[in-house]
Amino acid sequence: MKILVLGQGAREHAIIKSLIATGTPADQIVAAPGNAGISGDVRVVESLNPNSPEAVTEFAKAEAIELVIIGPEAPLVAGVSDALREAKIAVFGPSKAAAALEGSKSFAKEVMAAADVPTGMARECSTLEEVESAMAAFGAPYVIKADGLAAGKGVIVTDDRDAALEHAAKFIDMGILVEEFLDGQEVSLFFLSDGKTVLPLTPAQDFKRAYDGDAGPNTGGMGAYSPLPWLPEGFIEEVEATVALPTVHELARLGADFVGLLYCGLIITKRGIRVIEFNARFGDPETQVVLRRLVTPLANLLHKAATGHLDSAPQPEFTKDVAITVVLASEGYPDTAAPNRPITGLAEAEKLDGISIAHAATKKDGEQLLATGGRVLSVVALANDFAAARAQAYEALSKISLEGSHFRSDIAAKVISAENGN
Ligand code: AMP
Ligand code: GLY
Repeated sequence: MKILVLGQGAREHAIIKSLIATGTPADQIVAAPGNAGISGDVRVVESLNPNSPEAVTEFAKAEAIELVIIGPEAPLVAGVSDALREAKIAVFGPSKAAAALEGSKSFAKEVMAAADVPTGMARECSTLEEVESAMAAFGAPYVIKADGLAAGKGVIVTDDRDAALEHAAKFIDMGILVEEFLDGQEVSLFFLSDGKTVLPLTPAQDFKRAYDGDAGPNTGGMGAYSPLPWLPEGFIEEVEATVALPTVHELARLGADFVGLLYCGLIITKRGIRVIEFNARFGDPETQVVLRRLVTPLANLLHKAATGHLDSAPQPEFTKDVAITVVLASEGYPDTAAPNRPITGLAEAEKLDGISIAHAATKKDGEQLLATGGRVLSVVALANDFAAARAQAYEALSKISLEGSHFRSDIAAKVISAENGN
């Protein structure tokens, strides 16, 4: 099956590595625009604009592509999946209308209300006065969300009233959602969907804050691990029955079939599971650990979803091994733009047992690899327990040099102390 993967981050690199690991020959895969790491594994077409419906459709036709996998949200919002579907090319990625589940938090709340999906109470605000009154109603900590795509930076959770208001002021033009604070463990659970039915992948936990101990600002995600040994029994089944299926059915009722990946961002509160966000695409960096554990052929699963035949797809299976990913970020991330700086030591890191490295923002300058963005690399370790996976991931990071870079040193650390009874 000839496959085109759109995107240029570590998520797309992880998807490509998983396609290859589960049986797709590398020469059947092409990526656009890709990055320096992806170009080491498959052919990349840097000149193809992944956000242009016309350009992508033309390219897919010319290359006889049988499946397009859309990584990031931007092509979805730009209508790339709609154009491909129109041209009868199988595409894994929801229509623009269905992707509004991610792009508009107020639309997501409406869908959840109609489908009786458990989520936090929230108020939509279009003025700062409304924001202030909603904050007073819910109390601290304050949860302020920009009602649109903000590259993972649209949400602030803080006890500081002034900081909350300042954040609201910055995004007020998009509309603001003030939400009740939800306390508990966060879980990301992905479902494949063909618009009618869903199939769960395996749960992962993302580390959203920039620094150790969940300090610092929210980021796109600084690390992740899977599986989650502490999850309650029946968790996946409950999320499927109370969140994923009703959401997909409600979208179908609205005429917006959701064909692609439904990312459920959840918090397990004392009062039960609550949705904190939906995304319409694979999560980054959770994908790096989820797909690292997948053993079922990925191309077949995504093709079944894309063509409306998920009911005849095999149940996705995952190794019991533990996957951990730690993100290496450039100096100043997430606040400032990263300078282009050389990265060294990658080859040595990749030689370590169970290590693979997904590139997020890299380019080649001759033989020299350069970091070109905030999140630069996802170091992924697979091992048979948490201690070994953590040791291996951090050993790999110790081999890599990038001036001024930072990473979290506590990814999955709590799982180990919990396993040791601390
Ligand atoms: P979101 O972009 O909606 O996922 O929010 C980013 C992060 O903010 C989440 O991963 C949570 O850590 C946190 N967050 C979002 N909503 C809430 C909430 N209602 N209560 C507590 N934390 C939240
Ligand atoms: N890791 C969170 C996201 O992909 O949105």
